[in-house]
Amino acid sequence: MPDRNTQDQTSYDISIVRPRMNHDDFEIRGRDMEPARLKAIKKGLLTLHTLELMAITIYRFQITSEKSEFNRQLIAAMCNEMTHYQDFQVKLYEYGFKPNPLRWAFWIVGFTFGFGSRIFGKKAILKTGIWVESKAVDHYAELLKTIDWDEDTRKIIEKDQADEDGHISRWKTMLES
Ligand SMILES: [Fe+2]
Ligand SMILES: [Fe+2]
Repeated sequence: MPDRNTQDQTSYDISIVRPRMNHDDFEIRGRDMEPARLKAIKKGLLTLHTLELMAITIYRFQITSEKSEFNRQLIAAMCNEMTHYQDFQVKLYEYGFKPNPLRWAFWIVGFTFGFGSRIFGKKAILKTGIWVESKAVDHYAELLKTIDWDEDTRKIIEKDQADEDGHISRWKTMLES
């Protein structure tokens, strides 16, 4: 399949929290790529993978046992981040790379943000979500701009970025209501 970029594609359906994956969607990647391109892709995937671990952990520790609509929303967001984490872990292994063994540090940061904001209540949770997700969207944009991704991976990054954008608008709406 030709390796063309899909930049500027914006029609991602963010109501799909966990897109379907078929057996044939998995691929061994990077065989004919230049070392410099591979190096950039590796660095990008490692960054995305660790950031998603942080995102999962933030939402995880914001959820309480209360049977509320707010918790339902947080659980959906956590699931969405778990999908992103899976996306980048798969891509790492498809390229023959391994996850960052020090990613537990991002777990700790996620726990700090998640549990820290939970103590201060709903507003703090929403504000933390908006802040972290805005950073993520910028980070994704930077990585999309500076790295020559393969087409499949680019589409995944764009979809995941659209999801983060969706999280921002959801939390903003809830904060204003
Ligand atoms: Fe994410
Ligand atoms: Fe997100």
